[in-house]
Amino acid sequence: MVRFTSMLLNLGLALAAPSLIPRQDQGAINKKLIVGAAGQILSFQFDGKTFKSISKVAEEGKSASWMVFKQPNHLYAVDENSNTLRLFNYDPATGKLSDKPVSEQTGSPGVVSLEFNKDKTRLLGGSYSNGTVDIWDVSAGDGAMKLIKNVTLKGDLSPKHPTHRAHQIVPEGSGRYFAINDLGGDSIHIMDSKKDYTITSVTKVLPVGCGPRHGGFLSTKLNPSLLPTHYVVLCETKNLIQLFQIDQKADESLGLTFLDSMSSYGPMPPANATTAAAGELTVARNNRDIYVTNRLSGNATDNVSFFAFEQVNGKPCLTWKSQVSSDGISPRMMSLSRDQEQGIMFVANPMGGPSGIAAFKRSELTGLLNPKPMASIANTTISKEVGGFGPQFVLEIPAPKSA
Ligand SMILES: *[C@@H]1O[C@H](CO)[C@@H](O)[C@H](O)[C@H]1NC(C)=O
Ligand SMILES: *[C@@H]1O[C@H](CO)[C@@H](O)[C@H](O)[C@H]1NC(C)=O
Ligand SMILES: *[C@@H]1O[C@H](CO)[C@@H](O)[C@H](O)[C@H]1NC(C)=O
Ligand SMILES: *[C@@H]1O[C@H](CO)[C@@H](O)[C@H](O)[C@H]1NC(C)=O
Ligand SMILES: *[C@@H]1O[C@H](CO)[C@@H](O)[C@H](O)[C@H]1NC(C)=O
Ligand SMILES: *[C@@H]1O[C@H](CO)[C@@H](O)[C@H](O)[C@H]1NC(C)=O
Repeated sequence: MVRFTSMLLNLGLALAAPSLIPRQDQGAINKKLIVGAAGQILSFQFDGKTFKSISKVAEEGKSASWMVFKQPNHLYAVDENSNTLRLFNYDPATGKLSDKPVSEQTGSPGVVSLEFNKDKTRLLGGSYSNGTVDIWDVSAGDGAMKLIKNVTLKGDLSPKHPTHRAHQIVPEGSGRYFAINDLGGDSIHIMDSKKDYTITSVTKVLPVGCGPRHGGFLSTKLNPSLLPTHYVVLCETKNLIQLFQIDQKADESLGLTFLDSMSSYGPMPPANATTAAAGELTVARNNRDIYVTNRLSGNATDNVSFFAFEQVNGKPCLTWKSQVSSDGISPRMMSLSRDQEQGIMFVANPMGGPSGIAAFKRSELTGLLNPKPMASIANTTISKEVGGFGPQFVLEIPAPKSA
């Protein structure tokens, strides 16, 4: 309401009747997105109907399959094909990206996930190829990256993997702990930032070879500053979604207890169980709605499945709700829009269309995604320019607070 009034004042329309303001303007969509594809990083403006290209950075042979942003203008990008971490300048007001990195540092090879600690003075990078987690100091005003150390994941390996694979780093709300999903070691490692970023507990995910890939914290409590009560993980190889209960131990490590497991496909199996490989898992802010991508199903397109974290007879569990087509092939990453309602799900399909990027309307009330994309970027627009994989990462970067 305050914003609405000041907008009228800015326009010098303070005395105009509210009915003169067109209805759709009140909910106008104006989002800035960053997209990573093989050999390129792109930025777009999205108005709910069309994606307007802002910047295109070509970087042959590199793959920015994961990126994170820190105010005022620091965009960190992995190159999963090498051992460099790159810093680009990105202006969140205009959506403009520097045409090359402003700095580069060497860390572990094959990093595929980045996350900040709560005050964004540290950046954690998870390596798929090396099974290590790099801890960077990024507290400098210019965003420069200084490698503090790398942490090697330990424990038994899954028979098909020669090394541990730190596939994703997942921070929880209090900011203290990070979960590391280890696809090579079939386990979840919990790292404690208060104990110098050491791993203080490891939980096996069964069956052997299930391949935990991405995950998310959940809570039955409403207060986000309290430790979460549950963790949900998506196993890529066996296409399973699994729920764990979290208990903090006397030594302050977190214990994870298995509660529930089901197919990431719910009741509708893939056409080709051999190729099927679940990918992304996204938890909505309401701690109820869980979305997973099911890739390489062998059907005409792949899908996003929707599960709910619920209590049935007082027992927390996962419930399959529905699915929508991702409108493309092999959705590797998806993310929710940054508005309060999280009203849009953006999905990246790197291996075929029709959509390279698809935007789905999400109901805040029910969590359902509208099966017909509200807008999309054709897969041919992005993929053909450099070859290889098309869009594999998409993220809304919110405008600066003052705007
Ligand atoms: C990890 O850190 C050690 C030093 O502690 C260093 O020798 C090694 O090269 C690092 N590994 C990677 C992959 O950066
Ligand atoms: C990780 O990388 C380091 C440095 O390149 C290498 O010495 C080590 O063997 C690698 N470890 C694994 C498990 O790949
Ligand atoms: C995918 O294809 C398989 C085999 O044709 C079919 O049984 C299954 O129902 C399809 N999935 C959906 C949800 O249509
Ligand atoms: C599944 O995909 C594999 C690899 O592309 C192929 O060899 C196999 O024939 C497919 N199976 C079915 C049932 O389509
Ligand atoms: C994806 O979901 C749609 C809508 O429920 C369904 O028609 C389609 O067959 C599904 N595909 C797969 C691979 O499950
Ligand atoms: C776009 O998607 C279609 C359908 O999956 C596929 O045949 C085509 O090769 C894709 N083109 C590019 C450039 O990715």
